[in-house]
Amino acid sequence: MCGIVGYIGTKKACPILINGLLKLEYRGYDSSGISTMENGYISNMKDKGRVKNLYALDGINDLIGTSGIAHTRWATHGKPSKENSHPHMDNSNTFSVVHNGIIENYQELRNVLEEKGYTFKSSTDTETIPNLIHMYYSKDKNYDEKRFLRAVASTCKDLKGSYAIEVLCKEYPDVVIVARKDSPLVIGTGDNENYIASDIPAILEYTKDFYLLNDGEVVEVYKDKINFYNCNLEKIEKDVKKIEWDATSSEKDGYPDYMLKEIYEQPRSVRETIGARLKNNEVVDFEDIHLTKEYLESVNKIYLVACGTAMHAGLAIKPMFERLCKIPVTVDIASEFRYREPLIDNKTLCIYISQSGETADTIAALKLSKMQGAKTIAISNVIGSSISREADYTIYTHAGPEIAVASTKAYTSQVTLLALLALHFAEILECSDKALIEAIKNELLLLPEKLQQVLENVTEIEEFAKKVYTEHDIFFLGRGNDYAVALEASLKLKEISYIHSDAYAAGELKHGPIALIENGITVVGIITDPVLSPKTVSNIQEVITRGAKTLIVTDQALENGNYDKVIKIPKTHPMISEILTVVPLQLFAYYITKEKGLDVDKPRNLAKSVTVE
Ligand code: M6R
Repeated sequence: MCGIVGYIGTKKACPILINGLLKLEYRGYDSSGISTMENGYISNMKDKGRVKNLYALDGINDLIGTSGIAHTRWATHGKPSKENSHPHMDNSNTFSVVHNGIIENYQELRNVLEEKGYTFKSSTDTETIPNLIHMYYSKDKNYDEKRFLRAVASTCKDLKGSYAIEVLCKEYPDVVIVARKDSPLVIGTGDNENYIASDIPAILEYTKDFYLLNDGEVVEVYKDKINFYNCNLEKIEKDVKKIEWDATSSEKDGYPDYMLKEIYEQPRSVRETIGARLKNNEVVDFEDIHLTKEYLESVNKIYLVACGTAMHAGLAIKPMFERLCKIPVTVDIASEFRYREPLIDNKTLCIYISQSGETADTIAALKLSKMQGAKTIAISNVIGSSISREADYTIYTHAGPEIAVASTKAYTSQVTLLALLALHFAEILECSDKALIEAIKNELLLLPEKLQQVLENVTEIEEFAKKVYTEHDIFFLGRGNDYAVALEASLKLKEISYIHSDAYAAGELKHGPIALIENGITVVGIITDPVLSPKTVSNIQEVITRGAKTLIVTDQALENGNYDKVIKIPKTHPMISEILTVVPLQLFAYYITKEKGLDVDKPRNLAKSVTVE
């Protein structure tokens, strides 16, 4: 769960590398480092802490090398420290390596290397890689231009687990070698220069032309050419892909934080999600996924599988899928699903939701279901992400780059896209009332405007957040879709504000959680479903009677109920209400966190993509 950047060209590499790392801090930020190819040697500078600490390192401004590799780390093996930071070098200081992923057999490899006399300075799995490369390199007595390449390829064959690596060799100063397996890596190409990164936004300001690497590939990156190989070092060809994202769309655009910017982008991101699928504002178009009526009629079970917020998007849309498509839907946490021997066969349709498309558990669950004969659809925000390359079909959310660790606009786009998919299946299956389908389509089209209205009415949320930011516990209640939003709102609050929070189905209150309600405690109620509203209102009254302070998010005309604050949002179809109700609660978490003076974009212990188990 780290970020990597590389450069080879005619400019000084160091500023380009640090600039790229700053854009990747969302992938990890407990230490960072860079290696550049200087005159006849590899410079290796690294430190614990944020990327900006690199600017303070002695000699960093003297680096003149025009090629280099860089890394921002989120610790897996070995605590955050200078020794454990990347790049790691071999014992002879010939090779320098940065690595993203986990080498599962590193202990075994380390034992072999130690028996041969290699020593280790760090407790990382990564340090085995430069030493293994050195071992193969020293054995190879064919001193041709491919000796470095062969050493890297042989090393990769020994590695079990996941990796994206960049390697420098002081004896081959004109090339950077990279390789990947189960960890993202792209190469951006320019005029007499090439860039490497684990994520596109790191280098998007320099180029829009990208090569996406597949598992097992090894690549020689020179400043003026790129040679692609498979794991057996047979040459392969690759096509350049144009990435249409605007470089500035991954910057802050004047907002104080990425999270706030991303919350405010939701009218636009949801419009993009809809625009890509609702052709001429009326026909739901998913023809790229070729699912026939015959196939959908044979499906007897749909699994929606994901982690964190993406899993909450699945929970929010399950009722709509079941009501419109009349197929049972199970929402599963990917890390549970992959180990619980789920019942899967060729009548199962598995839909995997992942903003990054790199979440290790979600990818593993997908691979498992494919092996057992299910059809798989990936819903991802990142073009060319690992999950998109594993699934039978991929549908992109088109929410644009999401940088803040706390997911906001990806959630609303995921729910919107899943709603469109449910409408599409229902239209193919002809099993739902056409008027209902049309009504939901019309409401979907109005969402961007209604999201804008929600975002214009934030003062009261901010005021309430200022009243409760010192609390130790905050609870969220709702029924139906409102319960799904309660879960997401609670996750948002705890992950960025560090306030303990739980969400309950309001009907469960009396089965235990009400014991936690005491004078002064804060409870947030979400009330949108007209059928369930009276019941949730009664539950909220029960907590008010016991002294709770309440914040209510609703589109209903509630009678005066002694609530401390009511946030009114525009009405939409109850099956998609979560796309609106979640927004004031994202802001609630945001304002509380700001009031506490915490870093909203980079909460402690969390990283944007969880690429390890
Ligand atoms: O990239 P993914 O959608 O697969 O990520 C899944 C979760 O790690 C992610 O949603 C996480 O829960 C966020 N921090 C929530 O804000």
